[in-house]
Amino acid sequence: MRPIQMVDTKTQYQKIKAEVDKAVIDVMESSAFINGKAVQDFAAGLSHYLGAKHTIPCANGTDALQIAMMALGLQPGDEVITPSFTYVATTEVIALLQLTPVFVEVDAKTFCIDPVSLEKAITPKTKAIVPVHLYGHAAPMEEIMAIAKRHNLFVIEDNAQAIGCEYNFSDGAKKKTGVIGDIGTTSFYPSKNLGAFGDGGAIFANDDELAAKMKMIANHGQSKQYYHDVVGCNSRLDSIQAAILNIKLKHLDEYIVARRAAADYYDKAFANHPKIRTPFRAAYSQHVFHQYTLILDGVDNPAEYRNGLKQFLADHSIPAMIYYPVPGHKQKMFEQFNVASQVMPVTDWLTERVISLPIHTELDEEQLSFISTKVLEYIKK
Ligand SMILES: Cc1ncc(COP(=O)(O)O)c(C=O)c1O
Repeated sequence: MRPIQMVDTKTQYQKIKAEVDKAVIDVMESSAFINGKAVQDFAAGLSHYLGAKHTIPCANGTDALQIAMMALGLQPGDEVITPSFTYVATTEVIALLQLTPVFVEVDAKTFCIDPVSLEKAITPKTKAIVPVHLYGHAAPMEEIMAIAKRHNLFVIEDNAQAIGCEYNFSDGAKKKTGVIGDIGTTSFYPSKNLGAFGDGGAIFANDDELAAKMKMIANHGQSKQYYHDVVGCNSRLDSIQAAILNIKLKHLDEYIVARRAAADYYDKAFANHPKIRTPFRAAYSQHVFHQYTLILDGVDNPAEYRNGLKQFLADHSIPAMIYYPVPGHKQKMFEQFNVASQVMPVTDWLTERVISLPIHTELDEEQLSFISTKVLEYIKK
């Protein structure tokens, strides 16, 4: 059996090596390392794939969120609502811009922002909502957009974990996540579903003015060379990364199929187990399985039990990860916002019980069978 990894980017690369190597060499020969044709081609290709009017490539998914928030003209002290149960990047940039992060609950099934908790948290200072499409499952965007409309709030979708995910609206319309809110952001970190061979990110918008502003902010606030109209930053996607992503974008749909097939295998293996909740798939969301995350239910001392499972799997050379062991409201970084004592039963419950198994495009049946057998072996103990 091939060694099991959380993400096998090496085997994935071997399958597209000839195309990728040629694309990289082409960039090197052109010497257009910054904002070359590959970057423009990739932005156009991704806009087409997602149905976005504008795609602004940038250096990483954290910058994408920062640039989005800078473009909305938010003022220090303005409140931005976001789930506590997410990767820190989502919330860190809120604080970095001297805005106030307001943490809300997630839904215990989807792991995404809970609309009831969200609406309750709105105050006169609230300016924006940042839903996160966690693990590859969409947040309930139809409800979120309705709430945003009622309260006149901006919506920035953190689509770092769900690129390619299709959202089904109740009227039958379909859209890709990332292009439903005012702004969408994503990350091309190597382990992401559309991963570069280094860092990368992008921002999506349909509004021309907003897109132009974000493009300017990402480029030192420059309207034309050496004329800087607003305070910006320097956030670029390298041409080499764009050339690689251009190739990988052509394969994204087949990558999603492979991830879903692995998830289906696990789902069957763990079906109806009293101590395992497999990932829920809401009718409104396709699941693109950036992570395959189980909830260990009905066990005593869940965090300890989970550590035991993680160690047992590690002893059999199976990696597993806890995404995320500490929710936002309990991070030291956010102590200044007096959020540590916030009561978040769902988030706390999930934090102690989630465990993510290896999921990627290259898992074969032998590996999937071995992983699920070992998980069940431990859980039966
Ligand atoms: C939900 C979420 N938001 C934002 C980011 C930040 O992306 P990056 O690592 O490219 O800055 C990530 C990725 O790590 C993420 O998972």
